[in-house]
Amino acid sequence: MSDKPVIVVSRKVPPAVAARLSRDYRPRFNDEDRLLPSEELLARAKGADGLLICHTERMTAALIGRLPGTIRVIASYSVGVDHVDLAAAKARGLIVTNTPEVLNDATAELTMLLMLGAARRASEGERLIRADEWSSWSLSFMVGAEVTGKRLGIVGMGGVGRVTARRAMGFDMEVHYHNRNRLDAALEAGAIYHESIEEMLPHAQFLALHCPATPETEGLLNAERIALLPDGAIVVNAARGAVVDDEALIAALKSGKLAAAGLDVFNNEPDIDPAYRELENVFLLPHVGTATRETRDAMGFRALDNLDAVFAGREPRDRVA
Ligand code: DGY
Repeated sequence: MSDKPVIVVSRKVPPAVAARLSRDYRPRFNDEDRLLPSEELLARAKGADGLLICHTERMTAALIGRLPGTIRVIASYSVGVDHVDLAAAKARGLIVTNTPEVLNDATAELTMLLMLGAARRASEGERLIRADEWSSWSLSFMVGAEVTGKRLGIVGMGGVGRVTARRAMGFDMEVHYHNRNRLDAALEAGAIYHESIEEMLPHAQFLALHCPATPETEGLLNAERIALLPDGAIVVNAARGAVVDDEALIAALKSGKLAAAGLDVFNNEPDIDPAYRELENVFLLPHVGTATRETRDAMGFRALDNLDAVFAGREPRDRVA
């Protein structure tokens, strides 16, 4: 019998990633791509050595506590790891890895789409045409905000935040940022640092959220902070829904305090707050920030590099627990 490690693969992966898995491991694939209930995941994990999961698998402390003792590693096919109870994994001696960097371009590109789509009323225009309700044109028809030359505030200047800053500079935007630590000048690349979010917000005609979801960032964009934004600001979120207080954001979009929002991530996906669907001034996408062929391959390879390291007895590059 082969001594290749057994890996439970929670979701369907791209063909090139599946081929590498089949070459180097004994993968237990989920070709139907169903979201596996915890009990089924546990059943598949019996006798396995590792898990390759996505952000859709919520690895709670209770679930981690019930994993078979043979599991050594949880490799997440994502940069975000808010779906894994890292403390519980650590306590059980499990290694957890993620896939940073390789998704920066795709997510920053999506952030630009959110800004442009929200500012230029893209969903509204599309809905009008699809409903066959476009009947005339005038100088006041579908007028939105211009992105070019505006001030952008970025919360979280990690990999995605920094690429977003560069892309925004291509639109002649003045980039401001808040991060736990100030970047060195080369990485800052002309962006203006603010020690606190509160100090940055009044500058942000556009606000892009790029911080991870942690207990510290939960509900970070709340009513008090929205009030500090300039009137008519536009907010985009390609990070995690948890960093936004939905009630506060929806109220600000209704009152006109915010002109628009572009959202790719939500609390409680896919059962999002239904109020978003009723608002004309939100540009909504279903968590597709990393959904390009190139990036999904690169994420899979990065996750496999991490698994390879673990099973070769080396420290994986992207260890988060
Ligand atoms: C990530 O990598 O965290 C993306 O949100 C996809 O899960």
